[in-house]
Amino acid sequence: MRNLNQHNITEAVLASFANTPDPRLKEIISSLIKHLHNFARDVKLTEDEWFKGIQYLTATGHKCTGTRQEFILLSDVLGLSMLTIAMNQDKPAGCTEATVFGPFFLEEAPKFELGSDVSNGAKGAPCWVEGRILGLDGEPIPNATINVWQADDDGLYDVQYEDLGHSQARGILKSNSEGRYYFRTIVAEPYPIPTDGPVGVLLNATKRHPWRPAHLHFMVEAPGYQRLITHVFRDKDGYLDSDAVFGVRQSLIADWVLQADGTYRMDYDFILPKIGVK
Ligand code: BEZ
Ligand code: FE
Repeated sequence: MRNLNQHNITEAVLASFANTPDPRLKEIISSLIKHLHNFARDVKLTEDEWFKGIQYLTATGHKCTGTRQEFILLSDVLGLSMLTIAMNQDKPAGCTEATVFGPFFLEEAPKFELGSDVSNGAKGAPCWVEGRILGLDGEPIPNATINVWQADDDGLYDVQYEDLGHSQARGILKSNSEGRYYFRTIVAEPYPIPTDGPVGVLLNATKRHPWRPAHLHFMVEAPGYQRLITHVFRDKDGYLDSDAVFGVRQSLIADWVLQADGTYRMDYDFILPKIGVK
């Protein structure tokens, strides 16, 4: 293996991984090498350009903290997150579709009784949210765990405030014996994904906007059923057709209806497949 050139180096690198014991790892690394090498050949990558690429990935890593994951954001704006979800979360017809997780979920969210105000002081117009958690045959799913999180009126999640000191606009609820859930919160508004890091540099250089259409995040879990990670998007939002992270699905769009008392209301049922059902 000497004097390798641009024509035979790919085969030599692939051969160096030939003894990888885990067949899936071998498949992934081999495919990655082939595509990376072909990419470099395709664009005739210069040394300067590759060095810039390395600097970009280094800056992406440096931007990451306990509450900021710039690599997830990069995967999101490149459409890789949504592609992975679309390939792996192809639910049976009639089930609620999945979409991107996003970087603002928190494992440790406060627990609320049904009917509580999960906004916990977050800025925004009051809104009532209600629906049912159902199985594919229409059976109500009691005691499902419903994790909800959203941005406030300024387009920020609680974790984006440096010294807030408590959680806002997120919480965990349980569906009742009829599979119903309901809570108070604030109206979802469109917001830009964070642009103060390398992802912002990329969006700026490529003249892409950073906006996401208004949405509420949900994670729904119930024993015996497949976990659902999704959003409900707000109808008529101007960014529904240009979501910066490609997450919109028609079936996930709902109306936020203005009530006579000036508050809003959004209704949405979640339908989960049983474990093992494809
Ligand atoms: C979000 O909806 O929270 C989100 C998703 C992807 C990237 C940034 C934010
Ligand atoms: Fe979000």
